[in-house]
Amino acid sequence: MSGALPDPAPAPGWDYDRLVALADRHTTPFHVLDTARLDRAAQDLLGALGELARPTKAYYSVKTNYLPHLTRRLARHGMGADVVSGYELEAALAAGFAPAETVFNGPVKTEEELALALRHGVRVNIDGEHEIEVLERLAAAAGRDTVEVGIRVSPGVPVSTSSDPSYRLQAERAALRNRFGWPAGSPQLARLVQRIAESSHLRLTAVHAHLSSQIVHQELMLRALEKVLGEAAELHRRFGLREVNIGGGFGVPGIRRPRSGPLSALWGLHGGDPVTDEEPFLDTALLLSDVDKHMRDLGLDGVTLACEPGRWLVSDAMAMVTRVMSRKELPEARWLIVDGGNNVAPWTGSGEVHRLVPIGRAFSSDQSSWSVAGPLCYENDVHSQAVGLPDDVRTGDLLCLHDTGAYSLGRSNNFIRTRAAVVAIDGDQEQLVWRAETGEDVFRLADPGLLSADENAEPPQ
Ligand SMILES: Cc1ncc(COP(=O)(O)O)c(C=O)c1O
Repeated sequence: MSGALPDPAPAPGWDYDRLVALADRHTTPFHVLDTARLDRAAQDLLGALGELARPTKAYYSVKTNYLPHLTRRLARHGMGADVVSGYELEAALAAGFAPAETVFNGPVKTEEELALALRHGVRVNIDGEHEIEVLERLAAAAGRDTVEVGIRVSPGVPVSTSSDPSYRLQAERAALRNRFGWPAGSPQLARLVQRIAESSHLRLTAVHAHLSSQIVHQELMLRALEKVLGEAAELHRRFGLREVNIGGGFGVPGIRRPRSGPLSALWGLHGGDPVTDEEPFLDTALLLSDVDKHMRDLGLDGVTLACEPGRWLVSDAMAMVTRVMSRKELPEARWLIVDGGNNVAPWTGSGEVHRLVPIGRAFSSDQSSWSVAGPLCYENDVHSQAVGLPDDVRTGDLLCLHDTGAYSLGRSNNFIRTRAAVVAIDGDQEQLVWRAETGEDVFRLADPGLLSADENAEPPQ
């Protein structure tokens, strides 16, 4: 499989004995949040930004993980928040993010949500023309003369590549068709900017971009950002920008995404070797410093350089402990079926591969290729089609699935099985910060009168 991880090795810094001890007290699957890892990531990012000789800002992408224990901690580090819906905005403010340090992004913002943002003084980064009309109306009604807004710009070039030319072609087409933001240098963007310029209530003070997630190709990311910065420099000359926000998307080392296109899929079907490109490493501090330099070259001195990562801050601060429930050796496949599936690790079906480590006892040093699946009754609930694990892994063993901090909690669901708990560890303290969902929770939205059998009911006519 393209981009498969090497044989599982312990992930640096995780105390597996402690995870095993937690499994005695909590039902698997459950996530563990290691707050020290979260703190370190926050400090590293703020440290890298602090090295730059310009104002900087880090907004945490709340959608990536809205766990209150985690968001409150990041707010205390002095981060701002990036939100993309009204309920996220309310959750961010409740977590302690300052409204003036919060930005409202996303392709759809309802009138109620825009009103909420305006009331709190949260800056809106405009992505759709209708937002201009609604904001103007709301600002006029509130007697606000100047509401500062940003605009989302897209670069139109891909930020990932592969040795498979069909993957590259797909990535180029997708970048041109990207529906988030407006293409740098396009007449459509110019028209939108003109609408804001002519508004008697709105003032353009920020350019926003967000290119993708789990970006690992540093050169490509920088090249794409240069297009955004070029546009920002033009707008700065006309309007005097306060901020350029380059978004998030910084890749982390513990995750591999497949980078094969239809050509290698076909090749593989005919017995060809999979794409085995070397996985590059994205150096976020270096990227920020390169962006800073480029901003200086373009005359964007004094303008705040902002970013809004999610995954990079939280991915490896969480891991999931799951138990092997069944070992099935078939003529053509060897399966380990675990109790934590796609509903609590929602990226599995898309081919994203995370490190999987057997824990809790000494295992054989003989390894072989296993397919690892979750417990759900559908095809795509597969963690890995082929991962090297010890030969003697058996029913009852524990596995640690790494990098579950990003896009697990918020994207988890209760299809067939309920959502998992999160236990936070902080030094030698331990706290259940998100309890496991129950069957009762699943049905809490139903009309309570319909939740027990009606003994007197007649058969439907
Ligand atoms: C607008 C915006 N900003 C930031 C992020 C965070 O991305 P990541 O978690 O990859 O850093 C996202 C994720 O989808 C996003 O849509």
